[in-house]
Amino acid sequence: MKRRELVIILKIIKEYKLSLKNNSLQTKLIHAGEPEPKILGSVSMPVFQSSTFEYAGEKGYDAVRYIRLNNTPNHIALHKKLAAIENGEAAIVAASGMAIISTTLLTVLKAGDHLLAQDNLYGGTYDLITKDFENYGIEYDLVDANDPASWKSKLKPNTKAVYVETITNPLVEVCDLKSVVKFAKENNLVSMIDNTFASPYNYRPIEAGFDISLHSATKYLNGHTDLVAGAAIGKADMIERIVHKLNHLGGTLDPHTCFLLQRGMKTMVLRMKYQNESALRIAQYLENHPSVKKVNYPGLESNPSHTVAKELFEGFGGMLSFELNGGKDAAEKLISLLELPIHAPSLGGVETLITRPATTSHAGLSTEEREKTGISEGLIRLSVGIESTEDLIEDFKGALKNI
Ligand SMILES: Cc1ncc(COP(=O)(O)O)c(C=O)c1O
Repeated sequence: MKRRELVIILKIIKEYKLSLKNNSLQTKLIHAGEPEPKILGSVSMPVFQSSTFEYAGEKGYDAVRYIRLNNTPNHIALHKKLAAIENGEAAIVAASGMAIISTTLLTVLKAGDHLLAQDNLYGGTYDLITKDFENYGIEYDLVDANDPASWKSKLKPNTKAVYVETITNPLVEVCDLKSVVKFAKENNLVSMIDNTFASPYNYRPIEAGFDISLHSATKYLNGHTDLVAGAAIGKADMIERIVHKLNHLGGTLDPHTCFLLQRGMKTMVLRMKYQNESALRIAQYLENHPSVKKVNYPGLESNPSHTVAKELFEGFGGMLSFELNGGKDAAEKLISLLELPIHAPSLGGVETLITRPATTSHAGLSTEEREKTGISEGLIRLSVGIESTEDLIEDFKGALKNI
């Protein structure tokens, strides 16, 4: 490409649409962050699959255009869209959910600091905090997020941050998130929240007062089960610090994956609305089935998280978990008999996925650790996709008859 053309493209990129502040989430998902004017007329953002870019007078290492420095045109467009949809000042994507979670924690915390973390976190995050932090000289205490009154006793002079999840995995519990924000503000702590399970459609942490919203973008943000990615959204100065750390640790997202994620995100509202409705109907069906012992879903009136979820969320999400009267053996039989749900880990895609967390997301924990957090061997987790709800319920009806 001629240098003059490159300069024109860089100028266009600088003028990517900003946040479209007054528009709805659905409109922002389509238009925020998209180049304006369009690059060579292309309605869809092109992929700039180049590891490096011609020098154009950038000042400083972090401004040099290079994929690992997270500043290719595909990164810039995606960052603007992500910041806009959760009403943050800035955003950064990374190579996976764990890449952004680990990089963010290591940005906020240094040797000698102390973290308060919710006790039933996603297995990868739980392992990182409980097994690896010691090597970095970072202390932690696990807290019961449903009992804010107990957190004060865990505070230390070196406590720097709190870390929670909007909806926990796999028990789909929602803690009193308002109290978490209040506690963090009162005690001058950085508040971090993994918003993966809720998605920005159901909950927007920055608007609720959290400092950093984290996502495994692999799940609902992308929605198509064809990539891994992570994202952090927050104040511009905090995101800049995370970007610097990510530039050093190297967990960058490839431009082609940025392109796929940007494409997947555009349908998030449509997917989430359907998944919210479908999951609620399936949870209600299962709750009334005689072979089912217990259903965990915040949309059920019987669920302990229902009141807080109803107050805070747009919808209750597409994730539920349940136990059968027959325990682990019945769970395995059900999974093998179902025809539509695919027996696979991960979540948040258009296909319904079913798994036993003891063998997948929480396989890294000992049986005792799992039992302590309420994850039985027979617990089944369902990520409801966008298939017809009637077809899924029919499938469950048939399989449950035969276990
Ligand atoms: C809640 C939550 N956070 C983070 C992650 C990690 O994301 P990734 O697999 O994209 O690294 C997962 C993965 O399942 C998750 O469920």
